[in-house]
Amino acid sequence: MSSKYTKTAMLLHWLSAALVVGLFAIGWTMVELPKGPARGAAFALHKSLGLTVLMLTLWRFGWRLRHAAPALPSTLPAWQATLARAVHATFYLLLVLQPITGYLSSSFSGYSTNFFGLPLPEWGTHDPPLNEFFTEIHVLCSITLLLLIGTHVAGAISHVVVPGDRLLRRMLPW
Ligand code: HEM
Ligand code: HEM
Repeated sequence: MSSKYTKTAMLLHWLSAALVVGLFAIGWTMVELPKGPARGAAFALHKSLGLTVLMLTLWRFGWRLRHAAPALPSTLPAWQATLARAVHATFYLLLVLQPITGYLSSSFSGYSTNFFGLPLPEWGTHDPPLNEFFTEIHVLCSITLLLLIGTHVAGAISHVVVPGDRLLRRMLPW
């Protein structure tokens, strides 16, 4: 079996990573903006990109079930292999939960939800307690996701500093 991820896996990985980083940047900025067109536009972009991550992750997960990851090097300590697998599995879960809770929060906010300008069915009522409830879960998920990204990136970087360690290259096209 190859020791590298396939080009498709790399493309999906780096596209998702870029979108997630962008969503954090927009998410944190938009909630601080005063009510007005800039805030509305930032929320709309955040929702559209977030829904893109949802679709991308569902598709990626389906693809991943049919394409096993390259076997980890046998030199990798067992605890690191277990931690890496746990982090990867939790990523898939959170990258579905995060956008779904955002979508639910938005559905009960009294504002319409659009996907890049395309209005989505408005089935939710304006319900402030439900809106607040899903917002809290959305924020909680984002904190968990952030901790996971920290662990994941620290793990990846820790392999760069070890001479001869090629683990990061498994996810790099060169
Ligand atoms: C910020 C958002 C990120 C997310 C959501 C994310 C998610 C993931 C997931 C789900 C996998 C497992 C792929 C699979 O087997 O299906 C993975 C693998 C990997 N990621 Fe990330 N990642 C992110 C950022 C990064 C960054 C910034 C780096 C590099 C510094 C990185 C380096 C890697 C590497 C090297 C692997 C392969 C690990 C292995 O050898 O098995 N990731 N990532
Ligand atoms: C992977 C996808 C997503 C990520 C990483 C993400 C991340 C974030 C972050 C970091 C915040 C700021 C939280 C804070 O105040 O500290 C936020 C807020 C928010 N997000 Fe998302 N989000 C995602 C998807 C979505 C989706 C799909 C929607 C709706 C369709 C959505 C709707 C919202 C709303 C309405 C807020 C503002 C909550 C408030 O009023 O405080 N998000 N998001």
